[in-house]
Amino acid sequence: FEVPIAVNEPVKDYAPGSPEREEVLATYKKMYNSTVDVPLFINGKNVKTGDTSNMVPPHDHQHVLGTYHKAKKKHITEAIDTALKARKDWAATPWEQRAAIFLRAAELIAGPYRAKINAATMLGQSKNIYQAEIDAACELIDFLRFNVQYMTEIYHEQPESTSGAWNRLEYRPLEGFVYAITPFNFTAIAANLPASAALMGNVVVWKPSDSQMYSAKVIMDIFKEAGVPAGVINMVMGDPVMITDTVLASPDFSGIHFTGSTHVFKDIWQKIGNNIHKYKTYPRIVGETGGKDFIVAHKTANPKQVATAIARGAFEFQGQKCSAASRCYISKSIWARVEKHLLADMKSFKMGSPEDMNNFITAVIHEGSFDKLKKYIDKAKKDKKAKIIAGGGYDKKEGYFIEPTVILTTDPNYTTMCTELFGPVVTIYVFEDKDWEKTLHLVDETGEYALTGAVFSEDRYALETAVRILENAAGNFYINDKPTGAVVGQQPFGGARASGTNDKAGSKLNLYRWVSPRMVKETF
Ligand code: SER
Repeated sequence: FEVPIAVNEPVKDYAPGSPEREEVLATYKKMYNSTVDVPLFINGKNVKTGDTSNMVPPHDHQHVLGTYHKAKKKHITEAIDTALKARKDWAATPWEQRAAIFLRAAELIAGPYRAKINAATMLGQSKNIYQAEIDAACELIDFLRFNVQYMTEIYHEQPESTSGAWNRLEYRPLEGFVYAITPFNFTAIAANLPASAALMGNVVVWKPSDSQMYSAKVIMDIFKEAGVPAGVINMVMGDPVMITDTVLASPDFSGIHFTGSTHVFKDIWQKIGNNIHKYKTYPRIVGETGGKDFIVAHKTANPKQVATAIARGAFEFQGQKCSAASRCYISKSIWARVEKHLLADMKSFKMGSPEDMNNFITAVIHEGSFDKLKKYIDKAKKDKKAKIIAGGGYDKKEGYFIEPTVILTTDPNYTTMCTELFGPVVTIYVFEDKDWEKTLHLVDETGEYALTGAVFSEDRYALETAVRILENAAGNFYINDKPTGAVVGQQPFGGARASGTNDKAGSKLNLYRWVSPRMVKETF
């Protein structure tokens, strides 16, 4: 069971003049100036349906990057059939070979495809280079490497045996196929959800987000080149309801690996319930959904540290992380200093195309997101309980640009304190110094989510009170650090309540969901 020891991929800094900076910029320009056609990928083959939609960069939406093909119902049925046909051989493939394929994929990303997958993520999802590198290169490589290590640790776990009897657990894949639905905001998550299930011997039907098609294609090409056999991971795009309904109607549906919105996940759960009598086996339901992540700062917190956590936690990648800080509770006596540092940090933010490496902020993902954020910003401009103290501007002429915006509210239940906006808007409520415990209860009881949260204090007792009261308020809980940026192998990621099933991406806990162990007792 010896495998290469997983280590986190070092993040490159793309310093001016560095070869990696030149390479990624040249790749970006080349991809911008050519067009790409993204087919479905079924049974190891590109499938062009002729029914296409355009792909545009969110920061430059008049420019067409290319097209992607959309499936009809027959393509989904074909993807399911082909997956089921591939299942027997894939499940019987020695685990070492499966591991080697995904380790090879990691090295392809670390080396020859690094610039391409980063550039595709910059172009298609408007990530700046640093956010692309952390996600599409490092986090994805880490998922692939650590999953292999975790897989072997799981296979190693065996019950006690006695002489004359041998007890062994066979970690078989699920009987049937796994359905993966992935979001636009992390290229790493898009690749990991199908890859982790496939690594454990499962066959997969994968529906990427139609706002992430460029990097999805790069992922699929890498999987193919790394040696994932035909039929093992099949990529389909198109009408999400048609795709999901077709998949969930199959008696062989055996699990869903999902990251996306809470309401879609709940709909899917309900549909699975309605279909339960059709299935050969109870499906595994694994989902990471919404968040309304908090920062809460005690009067003893370091104001500069809190300000940096808000600036980075709320605005990196335009706040489009399920972990992004979006509601902050700051003790009154430090607020003036937090505000000063936050506004100073934000003055240095530059907004524009990700091609310009000085731009910390780029565009939000699409018009729907832009319009939603605009609506809440406009409302805050009018509401008596709210005051915009930074940002508040927006412009969609060329790209879907929303200025990083800070709303100060006098009402801890103000709409933007409770609603997930998924963009660069953060709301701050200032509480009386004496109300620490009361505020912690408020943090716990506000909204429906429990994904990430951060507490800042230099007082041990205050911290311990927060740890206790906020026990169920966040699946990833940070003490004196921002609530974003979980690293695979270091901070397994996921939350409960309306934030998901908390099966911790980037951990063994997640991989256990993709096996159905057979207990064998043999006597001699
Ligand atoms: N893992 C990411 C983070 O921690 C969110 O998906 O920011």
